Amino acid sequence: MPERTPYIAANWKMHKTVAEAAEFVDALLPQIAATQSDVVICPPFTALGAVVERRYGTAVKVAAQNMHEEDAGAYTGEVSAAMLVELDVEAVVLGHSERRQLFGETDEALARKVPAALAVGLQPILCIGETEAEWSEGRTLDVLDAQLRGSLPDGASAADLMLAYEPVWAIGTGRTPSLEDIANTHGHLRARLAELAADGDELRLLYGGSVKAANAREIMAIADVDGVLVGGASLDADEFLAIYGAGQAADD
Ligand code: PGA
Repeated sequence: MPERTPYIAANWKMHKTVAEAAEFVDALLPQIAATQSDVVICPPFTALGAVVERRYGTAVKVAAQNMHEEDAGAYTGEVSAAMLVELDVEAVVLGHSERRQLFGETDEALARKVPAALAVGLQPILCIGETEAEWSEGRTLDVLDAQLRGSLPDGASAADLMLAYEPVWAIGTGRTPSLEDIANTHGHLRARLAELAADGDELRLLYGGSVKAANAREIMAIADVDGVLVGGASLDADEFLAIYGAGQAADD
């Protein structure tokens, strides 16, 4: 099995002012100075610059939470991939279920956003996941396959992007699928990626949805889970560090 560098990402959503973001990063950096993992912070747009500035010379990477697919234009309230790259942001979360459900993000838009990000060297963290109804009807794998087919560009490669499996019903609810279900779903996605991408075996597959310090180690110990995308539990630096530590232990 190829070595896949663990990826621990903090999705802050619409939380943290510039001052709060700076305080978090200042607390985090000394604790992860020697890390071999990718530690990724996804602040709101307004705090991107402050986080980027602090993390120069460290292992921390910075991701935005969304972007528009066009280079420029009359799209009030939106930002382009090039604007993010100009700030030295390395990655962008695309297709998060909150964007899909609350802001009408579609697979069609994602099929344009992913190449637009890749074109300027921004790494998409592409999110897919089933709703509670789809899960209880046993349609999870079909839904994920359709989302993957709809949004993964032809010729995608492992170096370019990350895929995050986030069951919609697990986000912010404190509920997670069983470890066995996560293992089965990730195993299924790994097989699909092998079909869809030349080096799908190397593409990092994250799990997201109610990850916290108490469950991070067992989730990250699953063979095809290469990291986690953490929402609520990433807002507190100590809790996020505990999740990071669980990832290091799971990797031993
Ligand atoms: P949660 O959110 O950890 O608060 O469930 C995860 C996410 O939305 O990425």
